[in-house]
Amino acid sequence: MSKAGINLAIFASGRGSNFSAIVKAAGQGKIKAKSVILICDKPEALVVKRAQKARVKIVLVKREDWTSTADFEEAIIQRLKHYKIDLIALAGFMRVLSPVFVKQYRNRIMNIHPSLLPAFKGAHAIRNAFNHKVSSTGVTVHFIDEQVDHGPVILRQKVKIGRKDTLALLEKRIHSVEHKLYPEAIKLFIDGKVRISGGKVCSVEAIPIL
Ligand code: GRF
Repeated sequence: MSKAGINLAIFASGRGSNFSAIVKAAGQGKIKAKSVILICDKPEALVVKRAQKARVKIVLVKREDWTSTADFEEAIIQRLKHYKIDLIALAGFMRVLSPVFVKQYRNRIMNIHPSLLPAFKGAHAIRNAFNHKVSSTGVTVHFIDEQVDHGPVILRQKVKIGRKDTLALLEKRIHSVEHKLYPEAIKLFIDGKVRISGGKVCSVEAIPIL
């Protein structure tokens, strides 16, 4: 990790391929992070093994260890404060953060979603786009707000769906776009190129694709 840069917390619950892409970009100095930690609510998740291998600090927070969601989130916030976290990157974190949490880190919580939002919100975005037989879908990186899969867009990239595509092929293509787009969006944030106006609109220095 570089000496300058931000302290980054990646929140993940599952496979962790985006986690690995971000950690790799930090390791290569493509994104300037002083430190990276993993916040994970599923100790058995593959992302934990990836973090061990990459020697990334793992902070496990199991929802069952707290009586209320508010206490659970407060425990996460305490840990974020402890590690002086500047930016949170949600990467397959399978929990919706409450408005209280969002308020504390407004415009500092990014999410990646495998569709061109607002199309195909929810947990099955790739499958739903495929089943709807649309000619294209994509990937969106955005700051979260109080609504699910919603908030100021930082980067989006279109992904075409060919007539002969299978769902597996489309998933693969979308994930490879994600692995480039997420580090790129984090880099824009670190470089001070992401601008928020009126708490709603977000512009980036170079609007790509679409
Ligand atoms: C990605 O498709 C991301 O867009 C969505 O959850 C998935 C996480 O995949 N939010 P991985 O755990 O990073 O491999």
